[in-house]
Amino acid sequence: MIQLFHVTKYYEGCLALSDISLRIDKGECVLLTGPSGAGKTSLLKLIFGAEHPDDGQILVQNRNIARLRRADVPYHRRTMGFVLQDFKLLPHRTVFENVALPLIIRGLSSFESRRKVIEALRAVGMEHKQTTLASVLSAGEQQRACIARAIVNSPIILLADEPTGNLDPQLTIEIAELFKAINARGTTVMMATHNRQVVEQLNGRVLRLDCGHLLSDQGASA
Ligand SMILES: Nc1ncnc2c1ncn2[C@@H]1O[C@H](COP(=O)(O)OP(=O)(O)O)[C@@H](O)[C@H]1O
Ligand SMILES: [Mg+2]
Repeated sequence: MIQLFHVTKYYEGCLALSDISLRIDKGECVLLTGPSGAGKTSLLKLIFGAEHPDDGQILVQNRNIARLRRADVPYHRRTMGFVLQDFKLLPHRTVFENVALPLIIRGLSSFESRRKVIEALRAVGMEHKQTTLASVLSAGEQQRACIARAIVNSPIILLADEPTGNLDPQLTIEIAELFKAINARGTTVMMATHNRQVVEQLNGRVLRLDCGHLLSDQGASA
């Protein structure tokens, strides 16, 4: 599903990731831990294809994402959803409109879009908020809407970067539970978090990064 071979990434001459080799299989739940600056966000961005490695290769579903043809990039992005810490919803649009955005970009008919948006909102318990403006949602609701937006294209892989970083402990439990349920339905989940509670709750494979090095990988097969 996802394979990294000796991946190294620099930012302006500074090493962010060093010689990372790793394999993630379909349906896995992977928790990326480690202190701030360890390289968690960089690793997720590389897999998403938002950044490129300086060395090494990344295969997602057996495709080398550094060598994707321009025409294949939208398909690659659609196989993945990405949830961030700081929600980034369009504040003056409704929940429905925010969640529908990836489908509009994809050019889906409004009939098909509607069905998918409702399905995604139902999965995160936000069906009743579809006409609410994003700007008036609580933090927990905003993150639910973001998760709905990330899963609306039925991604094979759901990436999440500290998705509970701005939430209180109770909301953190609820959002972690949502990721667990999405993973249980077959979606591969890869989440960066330094919340120990979330790591325990999701009970997945833990990858620990420190200063760009992969320190431990329970169950590594690469
Ligand atoms: N766009 C960037 N420009 C320069 N340095 C960056 C950039 N993004 C990340 N870094 C550096 O790369 C290292 C890893 O950062 P990051 O992947 O954000 O770690 P984490 O998500 O674990 O906190 C850090 O030293 C950080 O300062
Ligand atoms: Mg980060």
